[in-house]
Amino acid sequence: MSLQTSPPLLSARSTAVVSATAAVVAEHAEQITARFYPRMFAEHPDLLRVFNQGNQATGEQSRALAASVVAYAVQLIDPDAPSFDHVMSRIANKHISLGIRPEQYTIVGHHLIGAVGEVLGDAVTPEVASAWDEVYWLFATQLIAEEARLYQQAGVDPARPLRPYHVVRRIEETKDVVSLVLEPADGKGLPEISPGQYVSVFVDLPDGGRQPRQYTVSSTALGTRLQITISRLRGTDGAPDGQVSSFLHDHVKVGDLLDVSAPAGDFVVQSSTDPLLLASAGAGITTVLPIVELIARTQPGRRVIVAHADRTAQDHALRDTVMHVGRQIDDFTSYTWYESVDKADVRSVKGYMDLSETPLGDNIQVFTCGPLPFMRHVRTTLLDRGVPAARIRYEVFGPDLWEV
Ligand SMILES: Cc1cc2nc3c(=O)[nH]c(=O)nc-3n(C[C@H](O)[C@H](O)[C@H](O)COP(=O)(O)OP(=O)(O)OC[C@H]3O[C@@H](n4cnc5c(N)ncnc54)[C@H](O)[C@@H]3O)c2cc1C
Ligand code: HEM
Repeated sequence: MSLQTSPPLLSARSTAVVSATAAVVAEHAEQITARFYPRMFAEHPDLLRVFNQGNQATGEQSRALAASVVAYAVQLIDPDAPSFDHVMSRIANKHISLGIRPEQYTIVGHHLIGAVGEVLGDAVTPEVASAWDEVYWLFATQLIAEEARLYQQAGVDPARPLRPYHVVRRIEETKDVVSLVLEPADGKGLPEISPGQYVSVFVDLPDGGRQPRQYTVSSTALGTRLQITISRLRGTDGAPDGQVSSFLHDHVKVGDLLDVSAPAGDFVVQSSTDPLLLASAGAGITTVLPIVELIARTQPGRRVIVAHADRTAQDHALRDTVMHVGRQIDDFTSYTWYESVDKADVRSVKGYMDLSETPLGDNIQVFTCGPLPFMRHVRTTLLDRGVPAARIRYEVFGPDLWEV
């Protein structure tokens, strides 16, 4: 007897076709999405201003899209496939921060199915095309519904997803990290922000291009203002420096206006009394401060451990602020790992973060943010220590390639 409680979403006919062709589509998925973007941008050059061109250049967005479509198809045909909810939530949140609208799904669908035909050629019979079209529209419909719910919850009209904000202060946190304190310039109050959420910031670049990037709201304790904290991305091995982070560092000054989306993202702490471990590296520290602020404000009796890894103490942004706010929490412990440690610093450990012996206690809830290899290392250590996977949340500062 089947344990399935709800009817399958995909029709029986398409289930058979998708089951028979999933492996070949998966094998060619990155080729398909790599074709998809140039096709779509050629017909809709306006979309170049909505898609992150850095992620296009590195191919990361193409890989993330391919992985999500394959994973979606697999969970349609395999009732034992892992839950897809977190992927759906991640995509829908990213989309609403960029003002994606339902009618744009027709454009994406047209070019995605077109790209499947280009790559797989004669293998795409009308039956195969129709089955994958059905998969696409099931995915699209679920995303459109979730995005409608999120827009409504945030009180955002998708036709006007951005608000102008004044830069009221610049704080040079470290050599390569700057905080921008932003205040709405339209005379209305700040939106509701759950600590851990991000905003999309759209900038007009000197070359005439316009580009969005996401930045975590690094402090929600500034009354009528919010703060974002930007790490300057330097290109390595011949790759160019980051476009938007360089622009924000080099050109944006107090008094300037920035177009900013409503807060989005589901990297948020649920109300519970369980102890929290916030494990960050580099720019991931921007998620730690707002969560520490939240606990200090609402649950000062909740245990919090912060663990941070960075190149050096001088590169460790927001450290003093986190420590200062942490003093309002009864049981607050901080650990630091640096690639090189100053002689006078007797508290920090040299090298990469190692949580294998850190006292965690029972029922630890983990939030981790930093480069993917760092987060994988943290997760593996914690899984080895018996922390259940469901208690480890992560935030990727780019397209989510975790599953890939
Ligand atoms: C949810 C979320 C929250 C985030 N929060 C923060 C935050 O709080 N603070 C923060 O600093 N960042 C944060 N980020 C990251 C941020 O959004 C940007 O990705 C980051 O600032 C880099 O953007 P950039 O425009 O400077 O770099 P890009 O120009 O996008 O470049 C990105 C990478 O692509 C490479 N690249 C670009 N073009 C080419 C090319 N032609 N050939 C080869 N390589 C190329 C660059 O060398 C670089 O390594 C967050 C991201 C997400 C998704
Ligand atoms: C079923 C259809 C769609 C799927 C499966 C899909 C999937 C994805 C995925 C997996 C991501 C990366 C999320 C992450 O950050 O981890 C993403 C981001 C994005 N999507 Fe979609 N998407 C769909 C439709 C659309 C539509 C209709 C648009 C509008 C043109 C759109 C625009 C974007 C943009 C601009 C980003 C951010 C890209 C970046 O930062 O590089 N998507 N989408």
